[in-house]
Amino acid sequence: MRRAIFPGSFDPLTNGHLDIIKRSLPLFDEIVIAVLNNPDKKPMFSVEERCAMLEEILPEIKNGDCCLIVDSFSGLTADFARKKEATAIVRGIRAVSDYEYELRMALMNRRLEPEIETVFLMAAEEFSYVSSNLMKQVFVLGGRVEGLVPELVERKMKEKLGNL
Ligand code: PNS
Repeated sequence: MRRAIFPGSFDPLTNGHLDIIKRSLPLFDEIVIAVLNNPDKKPMFSVEERCAMLEEILPEIKNGDCCLIVDSFSGLTADFARKKEATAIVRGIRAVSDYEYELRMALMNRRLEPEIETVFLMAAEEFSYVSSNLMKQVFVLGGRVEGLVPELVERKMKEKLGNL
């Protein structure tokens, strides 16, 4: 069983995240989309809301033989990966600027859990500038994020801002 986790804040889920999930499908039998519960951050969506959106959107993906699971975690990604008996941590790279931060995390996670490899997947060019933070910033200031986040996420962002 090749099990991976795909950890992130997913606040909110973007089409860039979905692109990485789709690219990882042929590589693993099971992927746990692991939503970080970080009490230090003030998220737009609660962990429950983020998980619920993923649960609703993921069935729309043609996942072939790969099983997609949504879960949340607190604490270290490496600990969560070990508890899930995952052999890989999936992370997306959009541009060279992501690499340094991702490399440091991958090396630290490997030090913590030497048996678990980080697998970097390159995001589609069309999403190379898409990040959750940019989506929130643009949306809050009245800009359009259509096509960059799933429709459900866009709707939930509108509801959140009383913007319907
Ligand atoms: O979506 P993000 O914000 O890019 O995800 C970052 C994430 C959740 C992967 C990273 O912040 C993380 O792993 N946090 C959990 C705490 C941890 O393990 N820190 C040490 C990383 S080496």
